[in-house]
Amino acid sequence: MDSFGIEKLNFYTPNQYIDLVDLAHARGVDPNKYLIGIGQEKMAVAPLDQDIVAMGANAAEPLMDEDLRTSLGLLVVGTESGIDQSKAAALFIHQLLGLPESMRVMEIKEACYGGTAGLMVALDFVRSHPESKALVITSDIARYGLQTPGEVTQGAGAVAMIVGNKPGVLAIEPNTVVASRSTYDFWRPNYSNVAFAQGKYSEEVYLSMFTEVWDRAENMSLTQSDNLAALLFHIPFSKMGRKGLRTLESKVDATSYARIVERFENSIIYGQQVGNIYTGSLYLGLLSLLENDTSLVEGDRFGLFSYGSGSEAELFFGTIQPDFRAHLDAKKHSSMLKNRRRLSVAEYEHEFEKELVQDGTEQILKRSDFNAPHRLIGLNKHQRSYC
Ligand code: CAA
Repeated sequence: MDSFGIEKLNFYTPNQYIDLVDLAHARGVDPNKYLIGIGQEKMAVAPLDQDIVAMGANAAEPLMDEDLRTSLGLLVVGTESGIDQSKAAALFIHQLLGLPESMRVMEIKEACYGGTAGLMVALDFVRSHPESKALVITSDIARYGLQTPGEVTQGAGAVAMIVGNKPGVLAIEPNTVVASRSTYDFWRPNYSNVAFAQGKYSEEVYLSMFTEVWDRAENMSLTQSDNLAALLFHIPFSKMGRKGLRTLESKVDATSYARIVERFENSIIYGQQVGNIYTGSLYLGLLSLLENDTSLVEGDRFGLFSYGSGSEAELFFGTIQPDFRAHLDAKKHSSMLKNRRRLSVAEYEHEFEKELVQDGTEQILKRSDFNAPHRLIGLNKHQRSYC
């Protein structure tokens, strides 16, 4: 049987961050609350010229080559940090990447599930057009506001994935388990540039929907937990994934549980440095595991739990492929994280308060990252220009 899945993937995060120990001191909080209680260390801070379009294009650019450009039939961008109510962020990225006109280009939204929605649409597309490939980009800037409970769970970044019938990294199984339920656990009304969350309730819904899809998958004999090499979670902050994991302690045998816990630690390494990137968090976890775990071998089977507030959940499964490491770049990613500038709390707060003009007058932005191929140059007459 043909297999379909992720052929290669890459991520981009802005080149500046706030250290959460600095933030804890500024907020008068015990640093261990952030480091252990939340389970995060650093948080990427997006400058104005690295909006979701620029970050998405920066994540995708290194994956591109001429053969791929001509075989792409679909580009989907999953985001909940949309820059326009009508025009898809994907169309800006389509132009920046020099992609052909003869393809479908769209943006998808369902909170943090938007990336998985894009991936599932892409899988359906390549299954019915096996000669074509799809590009799925997840790109987000998580903003809750200064001095809010959610502040420590912000972040910024993008993950890009090529989906097709030569899944060099992860072959994805067609059988998945989904759950949909209307909730107000986390949301962002059109008039707000920060998200609202009922934090504790959002954790409850996340866990309840995880249990729902896990139990259904178990009843359908999809989990096969004895053979599950790893279980990846949507990670808004690492403690959340850990709480999901703990619900399995009484459900899977001790050896499998220990193996899944050990692999979980490698799946959160990148996210603990970047923070929540909403739609991309699950896929940043996948990349983190693949690039940091030296014990993984071809044929290892993963479970992937995607959650989007509002709420939508999906549990799906995939198997890692021979030579998957040839499609990764652990060195580049660890140096990207290492070479970021540490902002003081005052600089972070200043960056947070900066805004793009809203009245159509011209604004030219300073270039923040000389290693990034793409950026927002500025705005004029209500139009954005990128390079
Ligand atoms: N040392 C160690 N741990 C400490 C500590 C210390 N000194 N002080 C506190 N803690 C622990 C607490 O015991 C608590 O642990 P548990 O969660 O295990 O009980 C943890 O630190 C958090 O502390 P609080 O209970 O006081 O919670 P808070 O008011 O700081 O809020 C939060 C935490 C709800 C996660 C908040 O940051 C928030 O609202 N975040 C945004 C919403 C969110 O991410 N929800 C996740 C589910 S929704 C989703 O997944 C979609 C998405 O991406 C948004």
